Amino acid sequence: MAESMMGLKRTHRCAELGSANIGETVTVMGWVQKNRNKGGIIFVDLRDRSGILQLIFEGTEESGLMEKAAKLRSEFVIAAVGTVEKRSGAVNPNLATGEIEVRVKELRILSEAETPPFPIEENSKTKEELRLKYRYLDLRRPDLQRNLILRSHVATLTRQFLAEEGFLEIETPTLIKSTPEGARDYLVPSRVHPGSFYALPQSPQIFKQLLMCSGYDRYFQLARCYRDEDLRADRQPEFTQIDMELSFVDAEDVMDVNERLMARLFKDILNVEIPLPMPRMTWQEAMDRYGSDKPDIRFGMELVDVTEVVKDCEFVVFRNAIQEGGSVRGINAKGQGAMPRKKIDKLVEFAKGNGAKGLAYIAIAEDGTVKSSFAKFMKEEENAALIQAMGGEKGDLLLFAADKNKIVWGVLGALRLELAKQMDLLDKNEYKFLWITEFPLFEWSEEENRYMAMHHPFTMPMEEDIPYLDTDLGRVRAKAYDIVLNGNEIGGGSVRIFQDDVQEKMFECLGFTKEEAHERFGFLLEAFKYGVPPHAGLAYGLDRLVMLMAKEDSIRDVIAFPKVKDASCLMSEAPGLVEEKQLEELGISIREAEEKAE
Ligand code: AMO
Ligand code: AMP
Repeated sequence: MAESMMGLKRTHRCAELGSANIGETVTVMGWVQKNRNKGGIIFVDLRDRSGILQLIFEGTEESGLMEKAAKLRSEFVIAAVGTVEKRSGAVNPNLATGEIEVRVKELRILSEAETPPFPIEENSKTKEELRLKYRYLDLRRPDLQRNLILRSHVATLTRQFLAEEGFLEIETPTLIKSTPEGARDYLVPSRVHPGSFYALPQSPQIFKQLLMCSGYDRYFQLARCYRDEDLRADRQPEFTQIDMELSFVDAEDVMDVNERLMARLFKDILNVEIPLPMPRMTWQEAMDRYGSDKPDIRFGMELVDVTEVVKDCEFVVFRNAIQEGGSVRGINAKGQGAMPRKKIDKLVEFAKGNGAKGLAYIAIAEDGTVKSSFAKFMKEEENAALIQAMGGEKGDLLLFAADKNKIVWGVLGALRLELAKQMDLLDKNEYKFLWITEFPLFEWSEEENRYMAMHHPFTMPMEEDIPYLDTDLGRVRAKAYDIVLNGNEIGGGSVRIFQDDVQEKMFECLGFTKEEAHERFGFLLEAFKYGVPPHAGLAYGLDRLVMLMAKEDSIRDVIAFPKVKDASCLMSEAPGLVEEKQLEELGISIREAEEKAE
């Protein structure tokens, strides 16, 4: 039976108590972590978000206290009044409160608890599905509590820093007309306008640009964004951006304020110094050296372009790739020359999973013997030249991909990361930031058979590339920048187009007719006619940033109530069916799912 806490007031959180409080009478409240009944003495570990405190119950049969304490089970919620004492038993150096205990005089059971479906403990071994079904219990675990506390600190400090820098926090609507960020929209049907739909924002992009037109000068928002795309460890259908926009600035100003924001967060929250300025790399260089536009520069193993070295060899795989305008590139997995054949085969499969037709290799044993999957197609001196170009030494494993550049980059970029994992080269305590600049403005979409905006359609082309807007879209570079941390794109932004004619031209390049562009973005184009400052901005994925700061592998671990791969919530079972009446009001009828062809 639940008791009331009437007349009691909590004086401390559990882990706020320490040796300095010895002798004080305190009132603590929280959850029972565990109860150890030693007969005559009962120890109870009490838990709240601050940590764990040991309670001790002893003696005085007549008060009923011992009897009550003996009833306590895991996850009961209790209030205890008692005196802080030096620990009678062994000191626990693992606990902040390890030197003390509270000798309880009064105990109230505020809420009883059934046995939870899994133990509430650090580093849970319970399957994630079960934990997500009972997320409210999972969230009691100390590691998740630490993550969400960290997240809150990041949000608070971000607000404080940006306010100091002259940013205003302004909310933008979440029932909007679609904003293009390249993903599918989540739609919300309108009851008042049957057949019409709002879109949930993929980002506040257009609104923040309008705020610049309206003279707010510097805006930020911790904005919820919604994207209906395939989920991965670093992607959720709804996520949070630290979104910002600045007027009368160029890319340098945006990068400067953001470098200082990151340095502040890492210093104040993790006590990690981030050296400034952060290194920068053009997109082209990143692709050539790392096969990725978000390179992890905590380790080397850079790509080497060996096209020139092998261009005359007889190996058809290499020759064909080069003849078709592609390239041959390799990476040198240092010290992996003795990798067993089976493991190499796994790497080949991994490469194929990333789009490769195959993966050629040369393994150099410690004694200098060379095993190669293609040596027989090469002259001896060609092999030697190739090994030399790769810096191959005794004990090295050289891996090669030959194909169109895009495929070669993708394959070797992924392989490089896979090898780094296998070789244990990734240290989560090391934080390597990097700006990627000069992105292509457009990206060819095989699916749509047209050019798409690589960032979004509001990104300014680099001045010197503007002439190519008429001749060669693939060549136009953008005034766009991504901020990358340990191989994760944690943020991205750009200088914006602020001239209506350039914006119209951009829409035209993207294949919008004038009418379509005006239908969708007319209000932005109109706004540009009434005096618009040059502006630029950036948005972080807050979840990704916090994930890295918390040294987690998935953003699910830093989101209170995340969704799973199929975009459902295992706890609330969203999305769900709605009542027929609601559909009627919305003028919506659900089509029968088409029978799948046998
Ligand atoms: P972008 O589309 O690059 O830019 O998004 C900014 C950052 O948001 C994060 N992010 C995500 N995080 C979790 N789940 C997702 N599904 C997801 N999608 C993106 C990434 C990304 O770097 N309006 C522009 C910004 C600008 O130009 O100012 C934008 O949204 O960390
Ligand atoms: P094959 O003659 O098909 O046995 O190929 C010889 C070697 O080249 C094998 O190790 C293949 O995995 C590899 N290979 C095949 N296609 C490619 C490619 N596009 N890039 C790199 N290696 C390849």
